[in-house]
Amino acid sequence: MKALDQQADDFNSSIHFDSRMYRQDIKGSMAHAAMLAAKGIIGQDDADQIVAGLEAILQDIERGKLPIDLTAEDIHMFVEAELTKRIGDVGKRLHTARSRNDQVAVDIRLYLKEEAAEIIGLLRQLLEAIVTQAKAHKLTIMPGYTHLQRAQPITFAHHLLAYGMMFTRDISRIEDAVKRMNFSPLGSCALSGTTYDTDRQMTAKALGFDGICMNSIDGVSDRDFCVELLSAFATVMMHLSRFSEEVILWASWEFKFIELDDSYTTGSSIMPQKKNPDIAELVRGKTGRVYGDLMAMLTVLKGIPLAYNKDMQEDKESIFDAVDTVKQCLTVFTPMLATMKALPENMLTAAQKGFINATDLADYLTKKGIPFRTAYKQVGQIVAYCIEKNTVLEALTLEEYQSFHPMFEKDVFAAIDLQNCVQSRISAGGTNQISVEEQIKFIENKI
Ligand code: ARG
Repeated sequence: MKALDQQADDFNSSIHFDSRMYRQDIKGSMAHAAMLAAKGIIGQDDADQIVAGLEAILQDIERGKLPIDLTAEDIHMFVEAELTKRIGDVGKRLHTARSRNDQVAVDIRLYLKEEAAEIIGLLRQLLEAIVTQAKAHKLTIMPGYTHLQRAQPITFAHHLLAYGMMFTRDISRIEDAVKRMNFSPLGSCALSGTTYDTDRQMTAKALGFDGICMNSIDGVSDRDFCVELLSAFATVMMHLSRFSEEVILWASWEFKFIELDDSYTTGSSIMPQKKNPDIAELVRGKTGRVYGDLMAMLTVLKGIPLAYNKDMQEDKESIFDAVDTVKQCLTVFTPMLATMKALPENMLTAAQKGFINATDLADYLTKKGIPFRTAYKQVGQIVAYCIEKNTVLEALTLEEYQSFHPMFEKDVFAAIDLQNCVQSRISAGGTNQISVEEQIKFIENKI
């Protein structure tokens, strides 16, 4: 057979990105060799030599003593070639009853299990930062928005905890995907299994899987677990991006609800007054790449017949990029949030300006027996009056109120007091303090 053309060889090779799975590849091989010996497929002496050789390779790579040979086709070929170089022909027995197809399928699962755990850890740190900020702002009033128009008063804690709830679901989405991924394809071999009497349960157990993939073709062919994880990561990014967008708005002079710590903002090279929220903007921007990674994975998989096809080598760069990006973003977003300073006076001023207690005023009349729709109309007229007089609901006199409706009494001022408006939203999950404290407890349980 003719040697592969040099450029085709470079094109075919995956070592420059799959070398990051060297540890998982070596661990998988060690479990495989131990199983081969236990089943009498290779001698115990041979297995011992293989395992010791692999262990030495692992240590050498980890200590920087063994550089990865980038001319190898992939990490699987590199490790096997290195083993044979070190222990001779015995090393050639390792690939009995195995194929690179099940090898790569097991490596990527092991790798993603570790990365998923790390990302969950980072999400828990983010939840901690959210809870800490929320605890400090249980009584901090801010305007709640719909359509980015001031709508009703809420507390800053309640707003932050909404994101907290989203990130708790992100954690459970990742955990769910890992649960379904945690079955071992090792021993599926090329696609149809093997003529050797192997023990797949043994290797599955040794590698920490919950069981084995029941169909060898499925074991080597599907990457649905990558799709699921990518979808969960894309959702994390969507939440981070939305949160970032608000941080950017809040940090603007137009809002000035928060101040970002200097260590998480940048200056302008020309405008000395600028403090730019680059970190939040980049997190928002990087969301696009993770969405792209998900699309790439779905598209790579959609047309390939069973079982393994080389297209599937393209799974790695997408999932690696998504893992790296999500980790990077969480690593900077969390301390940015933790060091962010809320400016409650500015939030309150904004809350006082938008007639955000108009609903409460209508509720006041309704509770005195006026039908809600009638009260709603009446309050609309009062708001129009305030706008014309350039004043706010809190500043009207009782006489002015009574000129609109005789049922207004002195207690109207308490009814539209913003702190009362917030605390009297007593419905479960509302912005009142009891609900906020329940939410904090719920999230703390997830940390
Ligand atoms: N580098 C390959 C990949 O990532 C490993 C599997 C190769 N299998 C094969 N039959 N050529 O998919």
